[in-house]
Amino acid sequence: MPINQYSTDLNIPFSPFKNDAHPNDLYKTIIMNKFVAKHHIEIPVTDLNPDLVEWFKQHNLEIFLVELFSKLANPNRAANRIHSGGNGDPDKTKINWVWGGKNSYMTWYDKVEDAKPTDVGYLTSSAQITYYEDLEALDPVPVHRHQLIYPMATLVQIALPHAVENPEETRWCLCLITRDITTGQRLGYQETLDRLKDVVVISE
Ligand SMILES: [Fe+2]
Repeated sequence: MPINQYSTDLNIPFSPFKNDAHPNDLYKTIIMNKFVAKHHIEIPVTDLNPDLVEWFKQHNLEIFLVELFSKLANPNRAANRIHSGGNGDPDKTKINWVWGGKNSYMTWYDKVEDAKPTDVGYLTSSAQITYYEDLEALDPVPVHRHQLIYPMATLVQIALPHAVENPEETRWCLCLITRDITTGQRLGYQETLDRLKDVVVISE
């Protein structure tokens, strides 16, 4: 075990939505009703597959925030802003599922810690939980790349600077934010992996 400090694929035995639905299938009921700025929406945990929610509970994790967004393809790499989401915490995770987004990669960068934020805020307006800082990095050094491909879920480190290329196809992303079911505390990358070790996919 592991692997790296940025991203680890998880072979979770349940699809995220009921009846194996695609986010498009939920578009009318979710997106149209609840669209908020920045293309991120928060959706209720009850919109997820109940078997999945229960499976997390069996791993002593509670899904307490669910976000969904779609991003149109953009071949311009410069459009992929580097950002971090730790809000002062150097170790914060999400579990992401991605649909579509052919040839899109998530890349983490080094040497941008001192970069000045160009924009800060929260991704979902209803929950002041998912923080982001856009970073102006002059000479970013890529240190890790990962392609997120359905049906694999991926544990990602969001506190370290990263960006996503999305050159060819609309990409849907579902983000699960989890916490310890007993203490209510969010767990770091390694602790979350330890809870989910039975589904970790060991890559090369
Ligand atoms: Fe991000």
